[in-house]
Amino acid sequence: MLRYDRPPELRQGIEDNLRSLAVDHLTAVNLRLMDGAPPGQYFDDQLAAMVAAREDGLIGGIGLSNITPAHLRRALAITDIACVQNLLNLADRRSMPVLEECHARGIAFVPFFPLGSGFARGGNPVQAGPAVAATAARLGCTPAQVALAWLLDLRPEVLLIPGTSSISHLEENMAVANFGLDSEARDLLG
Ligand SMILES: NC(=O)c1ccc[n+]([C@@H]2O[C@H](COP(=O)([O-])OP(=O)(O)OC[C@H]3O[C@@H](n4cnc5c(N)ncnc54)[C@H](OP(=O)(O)O)[C@@H]3O)[C@@H](O)[C@H]2O)c1
Repeated sequence: MLRYDRPPELRQGIEDNLRSLAVDHLTAVNLRLMDGAPPGQYFDDQLAAMVAAREDGLIGGIGLSNITPAHLRRALAITDIACVQNLLNLADRRSMPVLEECHARGIAFVPFFPLGSGFARGGNPVQAGPAVAATAARLGCTPAQVALAWLLDLRPEVLLIPGTSSISHLEENMAVANFGLDSEARDLLG
């Protein structure tokens, strides 16, 4: 995969997006980390490019993606962060500490692969687990709705972006805003 994440390339990417979307401002742009490296000079330089884009009026807010709590703390020592986007779903909870950092600071947390699409080729443990099936049957909803409700129930900073190409799935996913998990569901799903 092409990284395209060196500071001048980040600026170029933002300018390319502005051109292809035919707008002069993007509300928020994520700096997506590609290598899992701990925060250091390279991260600071990337962040400086994002701050410059914000100061130049190209973007309104800086987001971070694929980060650790250490990245968030280091970034916040330098500038404001609008949102964080990390993998988090029922089957992969490794980003819970990042969500807790966001919660402590009131920063929006956007879980990617909320329905486990990253697992698609090897079966989908997010929507197929027995606890999800039992909860869906008891609450009269779908496994996907259970998976999304579990995320919304974690912290008020969670904002959902489930991907879909289907109107019925979109409606099903939107309906999750109107129901919550009960304590039995929380206990079962963990
Ligand atoms: N920051 C990052 O590094 C990063 C990485 C990956 C993804 N993302 C972003 O995260 C967002 C979500 O990712 P994603 O779409 O790949 O994963 P996802 O939301 O976990 O899963 C989407 C899949 O779930 C299916 N689906 C949606 N609603 C459903 C429902 N109600 N019942 C059953 N299946 C349902 C969709 O199929 P249908 O089309 O048939 O509904 C699609 O195959 C996207 O905006 C993506 O750009 C960010």
